[in-house]
Amino acid sequence: MTVDNKVFKDSVSRRAFLSTAAMGASSLAFGLKTPAIAQSVPLKVGVMLPFSGTFAKLGQFIERGFQLYVDEKSGALGGRRIEFVRLDDESKPETATDNINRLVGRDKVDVVLGTVHSGVAMAMVKVARDTGVPLIIPNAGADEATGPLCASNIFRTSFSNWQVSQPMGKVMFDEGYRNVVTITWRYAAGTQMTKGFKEGFEKAGGKIVEDLTLPFPEVEFQALITRIAQLKPDAVFAFFAGGGAVKFVTDYAAAGLKGKIPLYGTGFLTDGTLPAQGAAAEGIRTTLHYADDLDTPSNRRFLQNFKTKTGEDGDIYAVQGYDSAALLEAGLVAAGGDIQARDKVFGAMAMAQIDSPRGPLSFSVAHNPVQNIYLREVRNGENVLVSTAGSAVADPARGCKMG
Ligand code: BEZ
Repeated sequence: MTVDNKVFKDSVSRRAFLSTAAMGASSLAFGLKTPAIAQSVPLKVGVMLPFSGTFAKLGQFIERGFQLYVDEKSGALGGRRIEFVRLDDESKPETATDNINRLVGRDKVDVVLGTVHSGVAMAMVKVARDTGVPLIIPNAGADEATGPLCASNIFRTSFSNWQVSQPMGKVMFDEGYRNVVTITWRYAAGTQMTKGFKEGFEKAGGKIVEDLTLPFPEVEFQALITRIAQLKPDAVFAFFAGGGAVKFVTDYAAAGLKGKIPLYGTGFLTDGTLPAQGAAAEGIRTTLHYADDLDTPSNRRFLQNFKTKTGEDGDIYAVQGYDSAALLEAGLVAAGGDIQARDKVFGAMAMAQIDSPRGPLSFSVAHNPVQNIYLREVRNGENVLVSTAGSAVADPARGCKMG
């Protein structure tokens, strides 16, 4: 047996391994299904998230949510102590392949958790398909990950870009808007969320006046906001997130458009951003699979524990991190902690039913969440539930052929 020495961060871990290797041999001799080695060698989770740049806070909250769940389970999932290998992907698609290959090839992680940015996630999905490493996507909505590139080892605990944007089309049409301008960053998530919104809005009978874009992660919005003022649409649909969302929402209000041309979007426009946006965000309506005030025991407990642990208010990113740990636990429990028992691990993850802070969470055949999509409105610095825009919404998983 070859053992990567980096697994053994200290001599205590090494002694634990040696004694459990012996225990493993004896448990096999007694006919137990899962060797005890699986139970006591730490499970290495490669955490590939943005810890710098416009999505830094999103990455930080996903990690904190995951950590909270693990802490609630005394540091172990399915009997395996969890060890982390962290990597800042900087939301850069150009270095993504090298980064995940480093986690899988050099650091020998057992599972990869990542990432936020759809372009980075696409590179990760390709490596996961090639290497078979279990990949849990805790945010990035790239439709392909649970569409044409779906695979037995790839799971998503967040959303597809289509899933959070398409329901907003009908919402805005029903609220009386007929001519809408869209605005976003020019990369996969922006393009796909605009497309999803358009699908819902045009189906309902609405018309897109113009699609405005700028390169990711630029935040020089002035020229585009001036263009919106010239076009005078009934309303605007926007996708921005993190630092970019803070700047867009405050610039929009500073330009005097707030209160004149209503601003809508997917929930990333106002999630995790409200303290920095302040009054500029009040009244903005968005669709997302979470609302701050969901009145369930699971959400109340989560928000309270997150606050106690971090001193901060939980948001959708923290929820997605928390649920990623719950999903991994479901797989590990079914396999007695043995992540190599792929059929058992993936089978149980695919069938998992999680009592998430967001509401009931299960998974489609493509391993994308089936979940409620809520219409929320910013009131007094909170994303407050207005109504359920869609119950148990499943992504169509176009092109997915699960092998
Ligand atoms: C994405 O790139 O998929 C994404 C990034 C931030 C928030 C939502 C989606």
